[in-house]
Parts: sequence; structure tokens; C-alpha cells
Amino acid sequence: MANKALATRQRMQFRVEPSQTPLHKRGGHNKYGSNTRNTLPTYLGGNPANKKTALAQAHKPGKADTSTILTRETTMFTSPDASDKPDYPVLARQLASILEGERNLITNAAQFSAFIYSSISNLNWAGFYFCVDASKPTAEFAHDLLLGPFQGKVACTRIPFGRGVCGTAAAERRTVLVADVHAFPGHIACDSASESEIVIPLIKDGELYGVFDIDSPRLERFSAEDQSGLENLLSIFAAVTDFR
Ligand code: SME
Repeated sequence: MANKALATRQRMQFRVEPSQTPLHKRGGHNKYGSNTRNTLPTYLGGNPANKKTALAQAHKPGKADTSTILTRETTMFTSPDASDKPDYPVLARQLASILEGERNLITNAAQFSAFIYSSISNLNWAGFYFCVDASKPTAEFAHDLLLGPFQGKVACTRIPFGRGVCGTAAAERRTVLVADVHAFPGHIACDSASESEIVIPLIKDGELYGVFDIDSPRLERFSAEDQSGLENLLSIFAAVTDFR
């Protein structure tokens, strides 16, 4: 590994964990799946000894240990292993636990995006667009969708209601599942890697607040089961979050 890349890894990654056991199933974790004893960065009070040991083991030349991997968890919460066919009832319980005790929109939206992105495999984008007044209001489109917290590449900032998959889901207040984005008239290509997409309207107490958009680099990535599972996860997010 190039020195620069190695330096970056050393800054970001500092813990060795058995690769077979997902973090959330290991002992010594709190109800969120976090190990608050030894996973915090040193600047947040973590134990520097853990970092030293992890790096020493991970970078010993010629002594690769296939039973261990460096994990990338440097945050308070950890997500389950990404899955092609997620267990949505399990994800629902984990999500409720992660969001418990916090009602802030930006905070919960950021956590929700990261949770979805890291729990479901074959995704290249997952994030929110929130309803705002249109930049150029017309009788037809009085609202725009403005980019919110997301995971993935830089995306389109503003999408008018009715445009693209997101604008269609917002205008029609329904989930739009697109098996092949190239076959969707008006699809907005933020990331050329995207092949399929699902956009779910974010509705609480009958009011539309935006949409949640998920992109995949695989054709036909999302099934009807994904749709109902994701709709339920978004409804949990909506229920525990304040929008005003
Ligand atoms: N594809 C979306 C635009 C948003 S990006 O995918 C992040 C659309 O057609 O509305």
C-alpha cells in the first residue's frame, strides 16, 4: 500500500476485530451496538493502547492474519453487515434503537442515510431530498426538493417537483420503483453508475416533507419486499423525528 494511503488508513482505522462476528453481536456493546469502551477515537477519550495494538497487528509485513480485519467504525454507532436480502424486521428494531432519544431532523436524517447505506448491499447512493419553496415558482411546480443528508457521491442540489424519479415520487406522493433508470423518462443521472432506483415519499400526518432516494449500480436491485421494508423503515424515521 502506498505510504499516503497507509497514512490515511492509520488515521481512520484503529481497531482489530474478529471478522466472523458482526459488531452488533459482540459482547461489551451498548444497546446501539457500539462498544464505548475501546472504539472511541483517542480524541474522544478512547484507549490509545487499542489503536497501537491494532495497527501493529494489521501492518506486520508478511504476517497477514485472515481471521482479523481492520474495521472502519470510528463513530458512536455501528451497523449490521450489509445484505442483499436484508432482514427488515431486524433492521427496524436496530433503527428504532439508533434513533431513540433524538428528534432532530438533520441528525436523524444523517443517521438514517448511513444506516441504510451500510445495511443494504449494492447501493451507490442513499439520501434525502426535503421539500422547500421552489426557486422559480410556477402554477405547476410550487415546490422544489433540496438535497439533505446522504451517503454517496456529490448529487444534484435541487430537483423541481415532477422532475426525475424524486420529483415524480414527491408530486404523486407514492413510492417509485425503477428497475432500469435508463428506461425512466426524465431520470436525472447524478451518478452515472446508477442502474436502478427507489424513491419513497416522506410523509408524516398527511404532510409531505420530502423523499428518500436509494440508487443501485445493479439493474432490478429493488424488489417488492425491499419496497415494503424500506417504506416501514422510513415511517419509523418519520414517527420519531420532528419536522418543524
Ligand atoms: N436519480 C434521481 C436524482 C437524484 S440522484 O439519483 C441522487 C432522480 O431521477 O430524481
